Amino acid sequence: AVSTHKMSVDTDESAGIISKHIYGHFAEHLGRGIYDGLWKQDENGDYIIRDDVIDALKDLGIPNLRWPGGCFADYYFWEDGIGPKEQRPSVVNNLWGGVTEDNSVGTHEFMDLVAELETDPIVVGNVGSGTVEDMANWWQYVNHPGESPMSKLRAENGRAEPWNVEYWGVGNESWGCGGNMRPEYYADLYRRFATFLHPYENVKPFRIAAGAAGADYNWTDVVMERAGDMIDGLDLHHYTIQGSWTTKKGEAVNFDESDWFELMDRAIEMDEIITGHKKMMDKHDPEKRVWLIVGEWGTWHEQEEGSIPGFLYQQNTLRDALTASVTLDIFHQHLDRVKMANIAQTVNVLQAMILTDGEKMLLTPTYHVFDMYKVHRDAVALPIKLNKGKYRYEGESLPALSATASRDKDGRTHISLTNIDPNEARTVEIDLKGMDVSAVKFGRILTAEAMNAHNTFDNPNNLVPVSFDGARVEKGKLIVEMPAKSLVTLEL
Ligand code: AHR
Repeated sequence: AVSTHKMSVDTDESAGIISKHIYGHFAEHLGRGIYDGLWKQDENGDYIIRDDVIDALKDLGIPNLRWPGGCFADYYFWEDGIGPKEQRPSVVNNLWGGVTEDNSVGTHEFMDLVAELETDPIVVGNVGSGTVEDMANWWQYVNHPGESPMSKLRAENGRAEPWNVEYWGVGNESWGCGGNMRPEYYADLYRRFATFLHPYENVKPFRIAAGAAGADYNWTDVVMERAGDMIDGLDLHHYTIQGSWTTKKGEAVNFDESDWFELMDRAIEMDEIITGHKKMMDKHDPEKRVWLIVGEWGTWHEQEEGSIPGFLYQQNTLRDALTASVTLDIFHQHLDRVKMANIAQTVNVLQAMILTDGEKMLLTPTYHVFDMYKVHRDAVALPIKLNKGKYRYEGESLPALSATASRDKDGRTHISLTNIDPNEARTVEIDLKGMDVSAVKFGRILTAEAMNAHNTFDNPNNLVPVSFDGARVEKGKLIVEMPAKSLVTLEL
């Protein structure tokens, strides 16, 4: 028999606002994310913005885009990427495939892209191998409204107006690829670099410090203690990895239930990790002024066989999609501190929204999760209580259900429910406290027969959300029949 789970939603109360910036994205100079992803070569070999990709991202509506890395940020010299293209030097992307790039995409090209996408740029400056002067000049180049050496240079390169970039990263993963620093050292360096990001009349910097790796709570403790007063956002990175980080990660498509269970378990760990960092942040910033930003998250599998080493190209299945919905639910549960997040990475890299192959393009199941969840952006989170039940596998168990409920600015209520159990359907009986609902207005579901269902270039619509008719109102309660391994979003 299908088990029934009780849930209640306080529809006239608020658990806070779900920041739209939780739905942010990330585009690094890595693999085919920038070149042959967001940009493509025209017949003359020049890189142009790829319209089909941009249209798909515009449909999704992305609130922000983080660039140019990632690890790349700490060996990126912005001056290489401005001015006439033929005069730009080539550089070697040492960490990601060792490929040579000609800096065709630089500051102006990135700013054109974010203007097209109508999204907020997040620029990450080079602390690992750059100087304070380099970063201060980049800030001035991008933002100075008046007369200055850098605004003059910007105008000479065709852009008189400043771009007013507010979100500014001071290094990336400074504990690792960004310089292998101790938190004590980074905190001092951060203070120094951040000092020279001067506010102008048109823009004040929102300064983002490199946060911890996964469960390294000491990093957060030390950085917040020593530099917290100068930090606006702390950029935690945590990936969902099945298998072993050092020997062999799990595969994106060829997996069994034990791998499914393990990946779900890893995804749910995000809750514990955020809780741990929040504790440290609360110690030094009890008013919760500083945002916890999950600036890199998502599934990281072995890269696809035959793809270029270091390019991190992977397929994306129903399993990835459900880890995304569960993770977004966790972010919402921590909305008092988590105000921004960036899934890695937008196109052709890791848990991408979009994959391309020559002229072909597909939307991944994770794209569809973001699409189904966009109703929660900037909405009021409604307090929920949920009997999550248990997904059991070989003597172990995980919470089977996960949910978010919110009310948007037009007064519409939305509920998203995920059932990670690949075997058992579940019925959820929802008590909508404070709301008289007679019928469900609209519902969509993402599910499939196969655990590893995914979209291919030959069959790009194999796994897409479809209309859902498994929800009804009965004796004042909302009854939702959740199939195994599914995500449902309802509008009431
Ligand atoms: O997203 C891929 C890499 O993962 C980034 O360059 C780095 O910041 C992280 O380790």
